[in-house]
Amino acid sequence: MAKLSWLKSGEPFSEQFQDFYFSTDGGLQETEYVFLRQNNFPQRFHSNQQALNNKTLRIAETGFGTGLNFLVTAYHWLQNAAQDSILEYTAIEKYPLTKLQLTQVYQVFNQSWPQLHSCCSELLGLYPDTLLSTSPFLRRGSEGLENQYELKLFAGKIHLKLIIDDATAGLKQLLPTNNKMDAWYLDGFAPAKNPEMWQIALFETMAELSKSGTTLGTFTSAGIVRRGLIEAGFEISKIPGLGKKREILAGIKK
Ligand SMILES: C[S@@+](CC[C@H](N)C(=O)[O-])C[C@H]1O[C@@H](n2cnc3c(N)ncnc32)[C@H](O)[C@@H]1O
Repeated sequence: MAKLSWLKSGEPFSEQFQDFYFSTDGGLQETEYVFLRQNNFPQRFHSNQQALNNKTLRIAETGFGTGLNFLVTAYHWLQNAAQDSILEYTAIEKYPLTKLQLTQVYQVFNQSWPQLHSCCSELLGLYPDTLLSTSPFLRRGSEGLENQYELKLFAGKIHLKLIIDDATAGLKQLLPTNNKMDAWYLDGFAPAKNPEMWQIALFETMAELSKSGTTLGTFTSAGIVRRGLIEAGFEISKIPGLGKKREILAGIKK
């Protein structure tokens, strides 16, 4: 589970990683810029319907955290996507927040970004009271693997699959489905503070779950990430960052 302390502003800080969950200076704007814009969202939500697999857009994220990236994406999806299309959002999280922690975070979100209110309450209503992380002893229950949670939001327009596991191990669980992602949100704490996550095995597994044209955005421009993604078969560009961040990365699978 996530070990948090709280800033005076009410925002969470990770005691495990000694890092912030999101920019305390415009978290929503950062999410829109780094993750949505670098994947050409929300334009792609409505302009490219035929390119979607059975009208389903698949996004995967490493490090669900507070769910801010998910909530902002859900908000834009509901505004822009065609009525009959579905957003399938898969997020892997090794140290999930408890429902109580999430409730506390969403009080801040609701004050700062009232437009997210309905997405926050929909997610909180469905978020499990306890989250099991069973890896490496995964057991299959009637609903699938026991560390996977499938939440259907907004009358099924948005499917959130939450996998409680290490990023690489969690993504490997998706390989048998043979479903390819349309876009990646590569989040996670800074590589210098979390070197265990940013491994070549992660980038290779992402490549296996991608198709030609799959895009990605990430907040980091660290060399180890850029080189790893290139080695795994992504074309990577450095993009100017927002605020104090000098550069971020955007990518596309060859
Ligand atoms: C910067 S926070 C993510 C912020 C998140 N996207 C949000 O909107 O709050 C990084 C997240 O990555 C998770 N994480 C760190 N190492 C991980 C790993 N090896 N596998 C999966 N998740 C990991 C952390 O627990 C944390 O929730």
